[in-house]
Amino acid sequence: MTLADLEKQQIKSLNEVAVATDAAALEQVRIHYLGRNGVVPAVMKQMKDVAPADRPVFGKSVNKWSNELKQALAAKSQLFDKPKKSGSAFDYTLPGRWPTAGSKHPISRVIEESAAIFGKLGFTVADGPDIENKFNNFTALNTPAHHPSMNESDTFWLAEDQLLRTQTSPVQIRMMTEHKPPVRIITPGRTYRRDTTDATHSANFHQLEGLYVDTKPVSLADLKATLAYYAKEMMGSEAGVRFRPHFFPFTEPSVEVDFSCHVCAGKGCRVCKMSGWIEIAGAGMVDPRVFEFVGYPPEEVYGYAFGFGIERIAMIKYGIPDIRWLYENDVRFLEQLR
Ligand code: PHE
Repeated sequence: MTLADLEKQQIKSLNEVAVATDAAALEQVRIHYLGRNGVVPAVMKQMKDVAPADRPVFGKSVNKWSNELKQALAAKSQLFDKPKKSGSAFDYTLPGRWPTAGSKHPISRVIEESAAIFGKLGFTVADGPDIENKFNNFTALNTPAHHPSMNESDTFWLAEDQLLRTQTSPVQIRMMTEHKPPVRIITPGRTYRRDTTDATHSANFHQLEGLYVDTKPVSLADLKATLAYYAKEMMGSEAGVRFRPHFFPFTEPSVEVDFSCHVCAGKGCRVCKMSGWIEIAGAGMVDPRVFEFVGYPPEEVYGYAFGFGIERIAMIKYGIPDIRWLYENDVRFLEQLR
């Protein structure tokens, strides 16, 4: 055997250590090279055939190879070491770690789903500021000057003509003052009222307003069809709507809109207080006075508007019993809804 052959064997043996995939394979390599009848002892035995002048170099090389191979085997075998019965740093009985995945908040989900549903009917999303003036939030919505909703006890006033909007309806006013008809918008957003927080009230909640105004006739039947479509898309194909007469300063006629109870399908249960219906929205035909305020000719335009609480939809859809759960960001609650 020449020095070159020796080197080849050395490289080959170290390669075999490197590619061994388990302890048994590694042991095979060890036996093959270092075992009693292995390659290394066989090479040692050939020393006598090597030219005397080359023997010292050859002998050193074999020793070096033998040592490197032993080191490589020892290092690699650590990878395959079985855990010790006691004192191991790794507890195999622990549950594995799962990657934590985030999820959309139910309020965001209702907003996005609603925008998609109304989007199919041609509504686009419009936005307005949380801080409003009296004209947009009350006056142009035909709210009489001394209406109780304007009181300090109901509205957060920031200055004489500055308030936190109590409804998303002022966005109607903004859109109509800035755009000619047709206007077909929904406006999801934050609203503020001086309500004491409890299971169903919050001083800061979300509404979704809808407005459709056109120069061709728009009727209460169109409004009902639109909300019926939304109810089915949002709550399931069984859902129905009903209108009850009501009053809002900015719509005439005005209605309150109920969805059929999705829990009992209208039969009557605890959720709908045995009535089969759940109150969802306020709506109506835009009052001509509002058209006057925004500079539309009241005889030439027609429109309807509706508005509902986003939290209310989320609570009904996901069976959330307490509105406060929507604001506390308790991960245990949010995970349930994933
Ligand atoms: N803004 C009304 C409210 O907050 C809801 C509504 C909107 C009613 C549009 C009619 C038309 O109660």
